[in-house]
Amino acid sequence: MSPVPSTSQLRVAVVGAGPAGIYAADILSKADVDASIDLFERLPAPYGLVRYGVAPDHPRIKGIILALYKVLQRGDIRLLGNVDYGTDLTAADLREHYDAVIFSTGAIRDADLNIPGVDLPGSYGAADFVSWYDGHPDVSRTWPLEATEVAVLGAGNVALDVARILAKHPEDLMVTEIPENVEEGLRANPVTDVHLFGRRGPAQAKFTPLELRELGQVPDVDVVVYPEDFDFDEGSEQAIRASNQTKQVVKTLTDWTLRDPAEMTASRRVHLHFLHSPAEVLGTDRVTGLRTERTELAGDGSVRGTGRFEDFEVQAVYRAVGYFGSPLPGVPYDAVAGVIPNDGGRIIGDDGRAVPGMYATGWIKRGPIGLIGSTKSDAAETIRNLLEEFADGRRTASERDPDAILRKLEADGVPFTTWHGWELLDTYERALGEQAGRDRVKVVSREEMTQISRADREHAEQPSGS
Ligand SMILES: Cc1cc2nc3c(=O)[nH]c(=O)nc-3n(C[C@H](O)[C@H](O)[C@H](O)COP(=O)(O)OP(=O)(O)OC[C@H]3O[C@@H](n4cnc5c(N)ncnc54)[C@H](O)[C@@H]3O)c2cc1C
Ligand SMILES: NC(=O)c1ccc[n+]([C@@H]2O[C@H](COP(=O)([O-])OP(=O)(O)OC[C@H]3O[C@@H](n4cnc5c(N)ncnc54)[C@H](OP(=O)(O)O)[C@@H]3O)[C@@H](O)[C@H]2O)c1
Repeated sequence: MSPVPSTSQLRVAVVGAGPAGIYAADILSKADVDASIDLFERLPAPYGLVRYGVAPDHPRIKGIILALYKVLQRGDIRLLGNVDYGTDLTAADLREHYDAVIFSTGAIRDADLNIPGVDLPGSYGAADFVSWYDGHPDVSRTWPLEATEVAVLGAGNVALDVARILAKHPEDLMVTEIPENVEEGLRANPVTDVHLFGRRGPAQAKFTPLELRELGQVPDVDVVVYPEDFDFDEGSEQAIRASNQTKQVVKTLTDWTLRDPAEMTASRRVHLHFLHSPAEVLGTDRVTGLRTERTELAGDGSVRGTGRFEDFEVQAVYRAVGYFGSPLPGVPYDAVAGVIPNDGGRIIGDDGRAVPGMYATGWIKRGPIGLIGSTKSDAAETIRNLLEEFADGRRTASERDPDAILRKLEADGVPFTTWHGWELLDTYERALGEQAGRDRVKVVSREEMTQISRADREHAEQPSGS
């Protein structure tokens, strides 16, 4: 049985159970206020891009999963999975049941790249490919890995992930958590050469040093760089002086220029090209090549086109030029930046004023840049401002019974899942992994995930955690 609904308790909904949402809920739960917190997630599994973005061959990230797991396992934050804000829940529902709402819905799609040919078959967004290899339930189960030569556009960590996963021999990935359908797909991958293109110079690459060095350690894959792509203007020199990370990235790249080509005997190669801006994806019925424009540094680290073009024969193009946040019904949206307009996490309405009780955190607050750790400081700022708004004890939700939202979801036929449901799925995936000699094998189908999570409805219909 739930306790008698409280009139003083602060009722908060967090929408999106990625790291930003979990950190925000955690910080709020530890604040000096009596709060009841519901964490809504559209997928039956929590953790956002930590589960569905981080590359499967990055197991060190498991430490972060463990930290997030411990937060939710405490039981004072109620996870309600398989609930999509916008479909299963509206802004009016949230206003009725909660005093405050924090949107932490991240960014799921690729930023646009408007060049001719970008929509040809064989031209893909990195976000879709990442979702496929990480077993996201909402993308196709199959992926056409047919190209021997591939282009990856962008010089950030996502481009590195995509290039590495494409180039890595499947047997070096099988130890990871990849789902069975992905394993099958990668076994058939005929790739020999992956060409990554940065539109600016080596000092402007957005790789992090560890991730770049990792590329050099992939078995039977050579990294090829081109001395003519190495140019440094005053802006580059300044960037190298100002950032140890940039210095390390430039050093690693420069060291690779000194390698003896005779030593490069691997059966697959990743070519890193700089000062090449994508100009056109070539082909009539499908991708047959990529045209780039040679760029030159302008002095401040920016580049300008030179009018000289180069064609590369590739049969597939992957765009890794950044992610982009999507609009949410009933929530202000900045369509240029792909974020929710906000001031320190307070959502700003069309009239330029803070909307009472509405907050944002994580990538949907500040754009799709930054590591998981940065969502923590982000959440701290948002929660500070939220607590300030409600410090006077004002409470606005008309429905104050924490179980009323469960009754509503059930009445609406929403097959929501809970933390207990996630534990069932987690155990199931680990057992699948054990059979295969791996830590985990992910279940991919949403129906199957939901069925496993809801197998035990007695627990699934848990009362409020508060
Ligand atoms: C391919 C890739 C690899 C990465 N690898 C690393 C790495 O190795 N190390 C590192 O530190 N950082 C990495 N990052 C960055 C890291 O993933 C982000 O910093 C972090 O995930 C952002 O957190 P978030 O909670 O704001 O968004 P997300 O992680 O995207 O979480 C948002 C959550 O909201 C949910 N949601 C969205 N819309 C709705 C809705 N309408 N209703 C309900 N729920 C909704 C989503 O399903 C998701 O679970 C990577 C990023 C990408 C793109
Ligand atoms: N292992 C990890 O730790 C890991 C893995 C993946 C992602 N992440 C993090 O997640 C965040 C997002 O990564 P990301 O790679 O998506 O974004 P990112 O770091 O912003 O890199 C995007 C890249 O795309 C380029 N680009 C943008 N628009 C372009 C255009 N029109 N034409 C050509 N190139 C274009 C950018 O070049 P310009 O610089 O010239 O704009 C940049 O090189 C980052 O903070 C990243 O570190 C971390």
